[in-house]
Amino acid sequence: MIINLYYYHVANDVPEKHFDIAVVIDVLRATTTISWALKNGADSIQVFSDLDLLRDNAKRWDADKRLMLAERGGKKINGFDLGNSPLSVTTEKVQGKRLFMSTTNGTRSLKKVQNVKYLFAMALPNRKVVAERIMSLNQKNVIILGSGWEGSYSLEDSLAAGALALYMQENLNYEINISNDELYASIALWSHWKNDILGCLKTATHGKRLTSLGDYEDDFKCCAELDCLDIVPTQVERGVIRAS
Ligand code: MLT
Repeated sequence: MIINLYYYHVANDVPEKHFDIAVVIDVLRATTTISWALKNGADSIQVFSDLDLLRDNAKRWDADKRLMLAERGGKKINGFDLGNSPLSVTTEKVQGKRLFMSTTNGTRSLKKVQNVKYLFAMALPNRKVVAERIMSLNQKNVIILGSGWEGSYSLEDSLAAGALALYMQENLNYEINISNDELYASIALWSHWKNDILGCLKTATHGKRLTSLGDYEDDFKCCAELDCLDIVPTQVERGVIRAS
């Protein structure tokens, strides 16, 4: 079987085309946070672009079983329980809860492809398990969607797209057809930075933005760790993601 693999940098670039599988990436930091929250026992994550809609939906949920997470411009929003750090979603805080979540870019990308049959959220820590899940599904057209920053390219999401594509090319039993130039460029990026992932994340514009906001050293380390999680964040109903 041949798998056609496409990469787009941001939600607005996604063409009107049928895709069987969508993989959304926001290395810094939404999909890393989602992956760790599920690893640490969160029941589910419901993603929103709009904060008022998030609040309305969260209010209808049992107060003991919900948490509201929101970030804009890298900062936590006042009145929300948590921001968007993978270190904040500890077992103690998230176990058994639904997380109502909105971030500047990552949750928008997830909403953009929510109608695709199989939708996964991926970050560097779960790159390998997501690759293996894709291969197990026998589907033909797979889109990888970065989140970027407010409509423009981001280095770290492209890095992870290249890491995913190269893993699939090198380790799995299907022919992978690299289907657009964006993905060729991402693979080249991964080949260039794969031995210094942390360096790449800190070089990226959003890495620099986070650095300017405070001490995010531990967030960087967590987001840069490759293949350490066995969680595949999977959309189970529109906008709702669970571990599988
Ligand atoms: C986003 O969705 O734009 C990011 O995850 C921002 C962040 O680092 O919190």
